[in-house]
Amino acid sequence: MSIAVIILAAGMGSRMKSDTPKVLHEIAGAPMLVHAMRAASGIAAEKTVIITGHGADKVTATARDYNEDVITANQDEQKGTGHAVQQAAPALQDFDGDVIVLYGDTPFIQPETLQTMLDKKAKGHGVVVLGFHAANPARYGRLITNGDQLDAIVEYKDATEAQREIDFCNSGVICADAKLLFSLLDDVKNDNASEEYYLTDVVDLARTRGLTCAAIACDEAETMGVNSRVDLAVAEVAFQTKARRDAMENGITLVAAETVWFAYDTLIGRDVIIEPNVVFGPDVTIENNATIRAFSHLEGCHVSKDAVVGPYARLRPGAELANGAKVGNFVEIKAAQIGEGAKVSHLSYIGDADVGSEANIGAGTITCNYDGVFKHRTQIGQRAFIGSNTMLIAPVRVGDDAMTGSGSVITRDVPDEALALARAKQENKLGLALRMMNKLRAAKAALQKD
Ligand code: UD1
Ligand code: CA
Repeated sequence: MSIAVIILAAGMGSRMKSDTPKVLHEIAGAPMLVHAMRAASGIAAEKTVIITGHGADKVTATARDYNEDVITANQDEQKGTGHAVQQAAPALQDFDGDVIVLYGDTPFIQPETLQTMLDKKAKGHGVVVLGFHAANPARYGRLITNGDQLDAIVEYKDATEAQREIDFCNSGVICADAKLLFSLLDDVKNDNASEEYYLTDVVDLARTRGLTCAAIACDEAETMGVNSRVDLAVAEVAFQTKARRDAMENGITLVAAETVWFAYDTLIGRDVIIEPNVVFGPDVTIENNATIRAFSHLEGCHVSKDAVVGPYARLRPGAELANGAKVGNFVEIKAAQIGEGAKVSHLSYIGDADVGSEANIGAGTITCNYDGVFKHRTQIGQRAFIGSNTMLIAPVRVGDDAMTGSGSVITRDVPDEALALARAKQENKLGLALRMMNKLRAAKAALQKD
C-alpha cells in the first residue's frame, strides 16, 4: 500500500514573536518541519506534500533542502485545518493509497505510531485518528469513543460541559484513504464556533457514509506542539532527555548525561565514551570505542574507531578522523582528513588539509588556508613531523617522513624525508643581556633620585 503524508505548515505562529515562520524554528539542530518530514520518511512515504502559507518561500526552501522531491501547496488564506488539507488535493490527484496528516509544529510523532495507525486502518476503518490521554486536556478537541470505535471529534469551543470532562484528546494526526479523505473534505462546512473548515469533521461524515472510524492512543509527549519560545525550550529538553536515554541504552557512556547536547541526526557507535559538556551539531557520526572528551563541539564530522577528541576540541564540517587519530585541546579541524593514528594534540588549526597516517602535528601549528579570497589545501605526508608553531602557507605539501623546524613559515613544498627550516638563524651575544639590564636599572635609579 502506498503512503502519502501531508504536513500542515501554513500558520503564522504569532506567539513565537518572530520574523521566522514557526515551523522553521529549530529543535536539536533541525527545523521543526524537518522533524515532521523525518517521520514521513520513517514510514517510507512515497509523496510528501507540505501546505505552506506564512513565509511560504522560506518554508519551501528549507523543505527542499531536506528532501528535493517534496511537493508544496500554498494555502493563501487560513480557513481551517480541513481547508488546509484540501490544498493537497491537486498534488495527490493521481495518488492511490493511504494518506496521513501531520503538523509542522508537532515534531515528535514517531514513525512506529504512524505505522500503528496504518495497521489499524487496514483492519477496515474509514478514518483513524491519533489521540492521547492529556494530563491537562485544556482546549484540545475531544475524542468521543464507543468501545473500539470513534464516534466524533468535538472541538473544545463546540463541546458541552460533559464532553469537556473527557481526557482523550485529538492530536490532529489522522489517517485515511486519500480518495476518501478528499471526497469527505468536499462535504465539510464551516458552520461552527470558529467558522473554520475543520479536518475533524471527516469522522462524522465518514460515519454517515456507513464507515467506521477508530482512534489509537500514543504517549502525550509525542504529540507535544510548539506555539511559543517557552514551548520550544520545553520541546528541546524533551528531545535531549530522550536522546540521552537512547544513547545510553545503545551502549554509549555519558559521564554527565544532562550536559551532553545531541543533534536530531547524531549517530554514535557502541562503547563510545562522551565526557561532560559535549555539544553535537548536525551530521556527526562516531564509530565504536571513540572517546569524546569534555567541552568539545562537533558538527558535520566523522570520528572513526578508537579516536580521541578533546578536551576542548572543535570539529567543524568536513573533519574526518581515521582510526585511532587524536585531536587534543584547543584544536580546530575543518574540511580535513586526519590519518590513522595521526596526532594533533594542542592549540592548532588544521583546515582544508590532508594529514597522513601517524603524522605528528606540533603545538601551535596553523594551516594558513585563506589568502583573503581563495582557500587552499595543505598536504602533510605519512609519519611527517611538524614542529611546534609551524605556519603552513597553503597550497603546500610536506612529504612523507619529512620534518619542519619549530617556528618555521613553510611557503614551499617539502620533499619526502627532508627537514625544512624556515626561520631566522639564532645569534648569541655573550654578556649582552646583563649589560643591558644594568643600564636600564641605572636609568630607573637616576629617575627616582630627581
Ligand atoms: C486542532 C484540532 C483539535 C486538536 C488540536 C491539536 C481541528 C479543527 N482541530 O485544533 O481537535 O486537538 O489541533 O493540536 O483540526 N493550520 C493551517 N491552516 C489552517 C489552519 C491550521 O495550516 O487554515 C495549521 C496550523 O498552522 C497549525 C495546525 O494546522 O499548525 C493546527 O491548527 P490550529 O488552528 O492550531 O488547530 P487547533 O485549533 O489547535
Ligand atoms: Ca484554530
